[in-house]
Amino acid sequence: MSKDNIETSKGIILAGGSGTRLNPITFASCKQLLPVYDKPMIYYPISTLMLAGIREIMIITTPHDMEQFQRLLGDGSQFGVHFEYRQQPSPDGLAQAFLIAEDWIDDSSCALALGDNLIFSDQLGGLLRKAAKQHEGATVFAYQVRDPERYGVVSFNDSGRALEIVEKPQDPKSNWAVTGLYFYDKNVTKLAKKVKPSARGELEITDLNQMYLDSELLHVERLGAGCAWLDAGTPDSLMQAGNFVQTIQSRQGMLVGSPEEVAFRMGYINETQLLKQVNKVKKTELGRMLSSLVKHQ
Ligand code: DAU
Repeated sequence: MSKDNIETSKGIILAGGSGTRLNPITFASCKQLLPVYDKPMIYYPISTLMLAGIREIMIITTPHDMEQFQRLLGDGSQFGVHFEYRQQPSPDGLAQAFLIAEDWIDDSSCALALGDNLIFSDQLGGLLRKAAKQHEGATVFAYQVRDPERYGVVSFNDSGRALEIVEKPQDPKSNWAVTGLYFYDKNVTKLAKKVKPSARGELEITDLNQMYLDSELLHVERLGAGCAWLDAGTPDSLMQAGNFVQTIQSRQGMLVGSPEEVAFRMGYINETQLLKQVNKVKKTELGRMLSSLVKHQ
């Protein structure tokens, strides 16, 4: 098989930053390790990448927090994946992830998931795997929000073609926010090197996406009402994310953001390996839900 035929096999989770919008909660603890209902926040983007079929995952975080992530997640074998860890000395922007990971990405395509973003839909797996299999260009996901000025905003022409992406516009041209989940082809590092620091001093992911858009290589997938996208970077959104997960899990009995569940369903781990994970959380409702996966196969 030529390299061009290999599916996206790598993904980065960016779990650094300062978390200042969550102070004082983040004075002593890193944002992406805070609980979203019954799991650490980072479990959600990990599950998303795994659902996309990605099993080589790099976690980028601050020098100060790296050890805690390693303690929580280890080498990834418990989920049938492989975790690699790198440090970002200062939060210089999302696009910097590709410069930090350059040698590791090598000639692969690579996805990026923000450590504080949570996407949920029962149709998501198919969409993600399609994006991950794309050999040329990039895919981003857009979601309609009430407060687009907080995000990267994509505008469309009358025939639904993406025209422009602007980071935190004062006067947004649409209410379609770009979510924190991005799939790029193997040219991503080369292009990321061309991104110049913005007025706020960051290497903006929006500038990288605009480069793909300018070359007509950006696919914008609009997520509909059946999908939930939440970021958990403020006290309100953290609370909303927790309430959302609790509602779906307790009302519908569906697990949200469980790497163990995704690993089992995707065939990354077998029944014996799943039961080993269940044993670690056996006193919890999560443990009960995970063990019921074995019974219901
Ligand atoms: O949530 C989606 C939005 O994420 C997009 O719509 C925007 O286009 C994108 O720029 C980003 O905006 P935010 O203002 O939400 O990004 P923030 O600076 O909060 O960073 C997002 C996450 O990435 C956060 O968990 C911290 C982490 N981070 C951030 C930076 C700037 C890092 O790990 N390293 C960094 O250098």
